[in-house]
Amino acid sequence: MSEAAFIAVASADAVPEGRFIKVVIDERPFILAQVDGRFYAVEDNCSHEDYPLSYGCLDGDRIKCSLHGSRFSLVTGEPLDEPAEEPIRTHAVKVADGRIWIDPTRPAD
Ligand code: FES
Repeated sequence: MSEAAFIAVASADAVPEGRFIKVVIDERPFILAQVDGRFYAVEDNCSHEDYPLSYGCLDGDRIKCSLHGSRFSLVTGEPLDEPAEEPIRTHAVKVADGRIWIDPTRPAD
């Protein structure tokens, strides 16, 4: 794993528990969420019709698309409801030096 791929995207207190923010790395949008004290990063794009998931809402450790209602696991990226059938990409996240970092090149473990 390359530590150099991590990019600082927000201060550690920028994402309250149970909320998410949208961040952009190299013109690629991501959702950065905190659930039960853990941070998750997923691509901000529904796999059903390329619609921004950041228009939706959190449902526990799932993000719900506001267009047709599919929910995706923030942990695995898997869709939990139709009509989406394909997963979304998850990304590695870490907290260090008072900031939250995303690795846009690597899936979450
Ligand atoms: S665009 Fe997200 S469920 Fe259809």
